[in-house]
Amino acid sequence: MFPTVLDEVLDRTIVGGYTRLGSAVRRRFWSPPAPDALTGSTILVTGANSGIGKAIAAGGAGLGATVLMAVRDRARGEAARADILDAVPGACVQIERSDVSDLADVRAFAADLLPRVPALDAVIHNAGVMPPQRTTTEEGHELSLATHVLGPVLLTELLLPALDAATDPRVVLMSSGGMYTQGLPVGDIEYRTGEYRGAIAYARSKRIQVALTPLLAHRWAVQSVTVAAMHPGWADTPGVATSLPGFRRLTGPLLRTAADAADTAVWLTAVSPTPPSGRFWHDRAVRPVHYLPSTRYSEAELQTVWQYCLAAVGLV
Ligand SMILES: NC(=O)c1ccc[n+]([C@@H]2O[C@H](COP(=O)([O-])OP(=O)(O)OC[C@H]3O[C@@H](n4cnc5c(N)ncnc54)[C@H](OP(=O)(O)O)[C@@H]3O)[C@@H](O)[C@H]2O)c1
Repeated sequence: MFPTVLDEVLDRTIVGGYTRLGSAVRRRFWSPPAPDALTGSTILVTGANSGIGKAIAAGGAGLGATVLMAVRDRARGEAARADILDAVPGACVQIERSDVSDLADVRAFAADLLPRVPALDAVIHNAGVMPPQRTTTEEGHELSLATHVLGPVLLTELLLPALDAATDPRVVLMSSGGMYTQGLPVGDIEYRTGEYRGAIAYARSKRIQVALTPLLAHRWAVQSVTVAAMHPGWADTPGVATSLPGFRRLTGPLLRTAADAADTAVWLTAVSPTPPSGRFWHDRAVRPVHYLPSTRYSEAELQTVWQYCLAAVGLV
């Protein structure tokens, strides 16, 4: 058992906890999941062709799952699948094409998938983006909101019949420690006003993910779905290299590997007993959702954002 005080010190120092230092220390106290923990399970991972998503797909396959790799570009997906098959011989991994930011595409994907996958044990919403300028989707939603919040909510909702058919269904939302810097953008959920900054848009949408997690847990408890949000720490991935080159230069060798950053998502999917629903996790432990007083919000503000998101995906 890892000493709680040391764990919290690592977490509060940020650099200590989020880099590879944090996981290197904590890992000494972790047990590996049973090698067949996911045998017989089917899990869907979005953004599975790159970085952390690819590592989650490999991790799930390594534990025996059939992994549905949801990607927006089939060729990039096939290349990632080939790498996973090299690393995990005999892995059961298949490519599914879906752009999670495009709600029409999400609907088409779910309609196509449901008859083929009668029971779905986990959905890991990993796909992520940090748009360099304000970009809107076909439906007119700001891209990071659509990718991190609207698409995942709609996709999960549409896949509920398959999740409901699994014995212990789980949903993981890949958020970010960046969300600690932002409150809920109650008055401007689509980031229409003010100077647009991709990192702010990203952090706001990641905050919304975490804020909605208890509400989603409550909504999907009817189907016994466990919902977890998490952050992976700081990892050296293609996304970080492209979107945050300065940060990558600064943190360099301290960054985690993608596999290291994927650990908690795989653990949340595979661990027994089932983790409590509606919480925010990092390195296999529940974490606070606020460090700054300025990010706190009222129940009424949370409800405003929740109702907006439900309406945006056509659920009210
Ligand atoms: N790396 C970190 O330090 C870090 C820290 C905190 C949180 N995260 C989160 O971890 C997740 C993975 O990030 P990463 O660092 O591994 O980034 P990455 O290497 O850029 O991978 C992101 C993946 O998401 C996919 N994607 C983006 N938009 C999509 C869409 N609309 N539909 C389907 N797939 C889409 C990308 O596909 P394409 O290849 O087609 O672009 C790619 O496969 C993200 O949610 C990110 O916010 C990462």
